[in-house]
Amino acid sequence: MTPDQEKALAGILPDWEYVPATVLHELPDVLDRALQAGARPPLTFLGAGMTAIVLGSHKAAYKVGRRLSDSLIEGLTAEAEWLEIAKRTPGVKEHVVRTRRFFPAPVLVIVNDEVPQVSKSTYGLDLWGLHQRMGALMKAEGWGTPEFKETSYIVGPKGPILVDASVNVRFGKRFLAYVKDILSGKRLWLTERPQDLAWALETEVTDGRLTAKEAEWAIAKLRELS
Ligand SMILES: Nc1ncnc2c1ncn2[C@@H]1O[C@H](COP(=O)(O)OP(=O)(O)OP(=O)(O)O)[C@@H](O)[C@H]1O
Ligand SMILES: [Mg+2]
Repeated sequence: MTPDQEKALAGILPDWEYVPATVLHELPDVLDRALQAGARPPLTFLGAGMTAIVLGSHKAAYKVGRRLSDSLIEGLTAEAEWLEIAKRTPGVKEHVVRTRRFFPAPVLVIVNDEVPQVSKSTYGLDLWGLHQRMGALMKAEGWGTPEFKETSYIVGPKGPILVDASVNVRFGKRFLAYVKDILSGKRLWLTERPQDLAWALETEVTDGRLTAKEAEWAIAKLRELS
């Protein structure tokens, strides 16, 4: 980076030196999209993972997709939709970051509340138990359980809060509606293959979460496209 570039970066993200060197080159595009989603400088660096760089601004956390690949778009879209249901589900909403807004691609930013970390240690907290209980409550809403990682939780003032909800499994009527949206063009058709969607719908029928009649039209349509 040239001194001028460093100065420009420091104007928007004063603590940019905490950003891992491996993702530094992604910052210009990531910052640009965070600003498009409403972040107002100076921003703070909250963290980075495989899928996103997370920036803080005025008590909000901007989870910015690192790449605009189809699988990342699918993943962050599912995460944003999961969080929307989580924030209305008793027993879950108390332990999950409160989501505010989702900006689809090409911005691809989930805006959540920032969680103030009061402890770095999760020692003695039954995160796995909490995760399983929330997973069961969300399954009743037609959602799979996000991948479990200790680093997905932040210990806030009221205890552990799940901030990373990477998930892409939908069940029953929620899954059927998802497939129908893809077939009707309401959702982008990204990485999924018609034969896999048909197979997944058949499993929903076998497992009793959908009736054969409910799934019939979508399965036939997907078989035509396979
Ligand atoms: N709402 C938030 N408030 C404070 N810090 C946050 C928030 N969201 C994320 N972070 C921080 O940023 C880090 C990366 O965020 P996150 O885990 O959502 O990204 P990711 O790319 O999905 O990660 P992974 O590779 O683990 O799937 C978190 O581990 C956490 O430290
Ligand atoms: Mg993740």
